[in-house]
Amino acid sequence: MRLCALSSGTLSCDRTLAMDLPSGNDKPLFTPGPLTTSKTVKEAMLTDLGSRDSAFIGAVREIREGLLALAGVSQERGWEAVLMQGSGTFCVESVLSSSLPRDGALLVARNGAYGARIATIARYHGVSVVEVVCGEGSPVDPAEVEAAVREHPELTHLAVVHCETTSGVLNPVEEVGAIARAHGLTYFVDSMSAFGAVPIDLEACHVDFLVSSANKCIEGVPGFGFALCRRAALGACEGRARSLSLDLYAQWAGLEKDGQFRFTPPTHALLAFHRALKELEDEGGVSGRQARYQANHARVLEGIKALGLSAYVPEEDQCWIITSVRYPECEAFSFEELYGRLNERGFVIYPGKVTDADCFRIGNIGRLFESDMDGLLAALGEVLGEMGVREVPLPRAGDDLP
Ligand SMILES: Cc1ncc(COP(=O)(O)O)c(C=O)c1O
Repeated sequence: MRLCALSSGTLSCDRTLAMDLPSGNDKPLFTPGPLTTSKTVKEAMLTDLGSRDSAFIGAVREIREGLLALAGVSQERGWEAVLMQGSGTFCVESVLSSSLPRDGALLVARNGAYGARIATIARYHGVSVVEVVCGEGSPVDPAEVEAAVREHPELTHLAVVHCETTSGVLNPVEEVGAIARAHGLTYFVDSMSAFGAVPIDLEACHVDFLVSSANKCIEGVPGFGFALCRRAALGACEGRARSLSLDLYAQWAGLEKDGQFRFTPPTHALLAFHRALKELEDEGGVSGRQARYQANHARVLEGIKALGLSAYVPEEDQCWIITSVRYPECEAFSFEELYGRLNERGFVIYPGKVTDADCFRIGNIGRLFESDMDGLLAALGEVLGEMGVREVPLPRAGDDLP
């Protein structure tokens, strides 16, 4: 993959620019997105380009090629990258509503809110849905998936979330993919919060469609999502879509025809993403980004333990994207107060989303480093102490962690 920086209407390569830190005014976002982005990614948006400008069309082409390269596939090997305006959910809906035939049936193996959303989308489009509902604190169980597939011969499609951002659990996409393959089902993976920092071998996992968005692990800004599609599965979508604007096949055909979007593209978000892909490449690709996020995640786990807090998901099942932290068992604790006090100190965390436990979440992704995690953990210790939640060990000068 070779990505280029845009300059005065032409594409010129600039491999010397260092990745930059976020601008000083921004509060670091310990969230699942929108995320903290680098200053240079933000600066890439300071250009107004027409959607028919050759520099813009070149950037879109490089983004599509770059995404395939990041996944270790290519057009030559039968894969296509389709960019779709809107947030990640729009892209999930685009793939589902374009690929599921009216008489199709979808199995959703789910263990959180984003798996549940896949089922909801399919029902909106009148498709019959079977759900394998697993506990939110553990990965989906391939044995239960296999049993459901055997019980429902009408199934045509199978869907799972890669990292269930609700909790932070990493799901066994390869084992579930083997089931899809064995039973001839079209396989859809929502890798929204994982793609770019969690390795996935699309061929080994038998994936037909993978969806992610601009403002997750690739560290762009919100505005569009993308689908990596096995060409044969994409071809089967022709004429199937139930929505004009979300027609995945038509979007792909338009991009292939003249490199343009069918409807107004988020030009600035695409320029930011073009830059973000280059910064990902400079960081060492998926493995480099994975290493930074894993270091952030390890720091959070150690830090919350030192504060007497515990993670919702057992360590062996956690992905390194986001950490769900159980509320301390103490009446003095209030999430709103914690959130507000941390925010005043310049740290933005996120509420919990699991349904069977009270948690808050700390995102490890975006342009954040171990020093950011240390800053947050020190502030967390101070705030819990101020709230009288418990005797929390406050950091001392020279301590590595709070
Ligand atoms: C796994 C997963 N799927 C879908 C979504 C929805 O994406 P969006 O909020 O961009 O529509 C998210 C958002 O965090 C997610 O983490």
